[in-house]
Amino acid sequence: MTRAASLEQTDPMEPIERSEAGPAPRTDHSDHADRDAVERAADDAGRQRLRRFALAAVITNIGIVFSGGLVRVTGSGLGCPTWPTCDGNNLVPLPGGEHSGIQTAIEFGNRLLSFVVLASVVAVFVQVRRTRPHPAAIERLAWVLPIGVLAQVVLGGITVLTRLSPLTVAGHFLLSMVLIAAAVALYHRVQPAPTGADAEPVGAGLRWATMALAVVAAVVLVLGTLVTGAGPHAGDPDVGRLGLDIRIMAIAHADAVWALVGLTIALVAVTWRSGPPRLRTALRVLLGLQLVQGAVGYTQYALGIPAALVAVHILGAALMWATVTTVWVWARPQLEEGADEPESGAEHARTTPSPIRS
Ligand code: HEM
Repeated sequence: MTRAASLEQTDPMEPIERSEAGPAPRTDHSDHADRDAVERAADDAGRQRLRRFALAAVITNIGIVFSGGLVRVTGSGLGCPTWPTCDGNNLVPLPGGEHSGIQTAIEFGNRLLSFVVLASVVAVFVQVRRTRPHPAAIERLAWVLPIGVLAQVVLGGITVLTRLSPLTVAGHFLLSMVLIAAAVALYHRVQPAPTGADAEPVGAGLRWATMALAVVAAVVLVLGTLVTGAGPHAGDPDVGRLGLDIRIMAIAHADAVWALVGLTIALVAVTWRSGPPRLRTALRVLLGLQLVQGAVGYTQYALGIPAALVAVHILGAALMWATVTTVWVWARPQLEEGADEPESGAEHARTTPSPIRS
């Protein structure tokens, strides 16, 4: 029912006699209740839209990491050799440059995709403001997303202008990981509050362990970017490398992965029969992703780092990190609107009316 239609039905000027034959007389109290219901419905619709926008932000941010990986492994990094124009004069690529048409299209496609990502996070930002009030954490995440994507647009430009300096490429990848974490956290936090066993409290020990999980996963990502910086896929044949021994870096990266897998196995075991079911599921999915990702990592190393496997490895890294963020969020209790720090215990989670969780 539209808001106008509903308000029409609750017109306070409606004659009382009419109600004698049928429905009970309308009072101020019932008018307010109806208006409240209409406002709640509009609020619900706004929050529903916010959830869809947040999901789109998750997908676009993961998507651009994959397309950025394609730019690198296809050697298209300088397909548009300058920035913000493609060739110094034109914003769009023209035929006849140094690079093949496909390489230029891949690089330029990645540039265009950044505007889709920007649109998705601006939509989240606007919708968060339209559906206020929210917990302070959601307000902060809504700021992080557009600021981070704008920073990525600039860093992408610096990456081209520094002729694909490996450290800039690594920073570009890692900033995307921050954005994926922000988008995934925001997406989960704007879902309806959990019910039943999912609203059970998570002990402080388990929460700390998920913090450790996030830290070790971040170390794996950073080391991965250093392996890349030492490796053959620079994004262009004429680009300098980090000067690190790729064998040593790959061993350090894989060792950190073993620590991560060990920690995840411990968490899966600890939550095998207890804890919120969705957290247990997320941990098992995480373990599965790590095993597949690890297998891809060893295979690509053994096969001399073929481009196609590197692309799969990059997508796997983004998905693994999104799942780590999910675990982190689901191990933490709900926040009230305007609150900053998570409260402990499920009592709060069960009694908070707002469908928002920390
Ligand atoms: C949970 C498991 C793993 C994760 C999350 C992960 C993540 C990453 C990340 C983020 C990168 C950098 C991507 C980029 O800069 O574009 C990378 C690169 C790399 N990883 Fe892993 N990795 C995992 C397991 C492994 C394992 C077990 C190996 C085996 C040695 C491995 C080998 C490599 C290699 C060789 C590269 C460089 C690829 C290139 O030159 O582009 N990874 N990894």
